[in-house]
Amino acid sequence: MNSSFTPEFVQDFYRLLEVRRSIRKFKADPIPREVLERVLAAAMQAPSGKNFQNWKFFVLTGTKRDAYVEMSKKTWTSIQPILEKQLKPSLYKFTERFFYTLGDAPVVVVCYSRKNPQEHPMTSIGSVYMAVENLNLACFAEGLGCCTMGAPLEIADEVNKFVGATEDLELLCAVVLGVPDHEPPKAPRQLEGRVEWLG
Ligand SMILES: Cc1cc2nc3c(=O)[nH]c(=O)nc-3n(C[C@H](O)[C@H](O)[C@H](O)COP(=O)(O)O)c2cc1C
Repeated sequence: MNSSFTPEFVQDFYRLLEVRRSIRKFKADPIPREVLERVLAAAMQAPSGKNFQNWKFFVLTGTKRDAYVEMSKKTWTSIQPILEKQLKPSLYKFTERFFYTLGDAPVVVVCYSRKNPQEHPMTSIGSVYMAVENLNLACFAEGLGCCTMGAPLEIADEVNKFVGATEDLELLCAVVLGVPDHEPPKAPRQLEGRVEWLG
């Protein structure tokens, strides 16, 4: 295999994938605007169906972020019954705090797909998620942490109004980010039955 990257870079790249994990507790340190611009630019390097680049990101900081956290507390009500059964008590308590505070993340990026009649909805959604993964990886490369959250979908109408999303935008998720204030263990991966080799 011929790669234009050094073996060290390739190793680091795979390490980046391995060390990325959802961070749910952050330091109060503000994130410089140029760092946010870099990670968002990395997000938008993602491939997209027909190169429509149908993503739209609303970046919430300062008082707008504070107001968002207040609003997003409501998402706990719908998710709580599922997590109560699924999580050990200590992790349940931690997760509850996360939903109430968003881990004190100084930045929330609310992610949308722009609907397009010329594109299959799944392709549009998938394209934005490719950008969201780029955003996750860029955060880690920068020494930041983040957590992608589907929870805002529980209060989609409110979130849409809050950010001023137009009718053509579909809410997908929010990414909360900041300087990590904990080192969670790697969530286990199950490989069994996930890949089938044909041919
Ligand atoms: C689309 C999507 C939605 C998610 N929604 C939430 C969420 O609402 N709250 C949360 O705490 N974590 C959320 N997560 C994070 C997952 O729980 C996490 O990725 C998974 O447990 C694997 O852990 P890891 O990211 O540390 O590898 C979400 C992840 C994805 C990809």
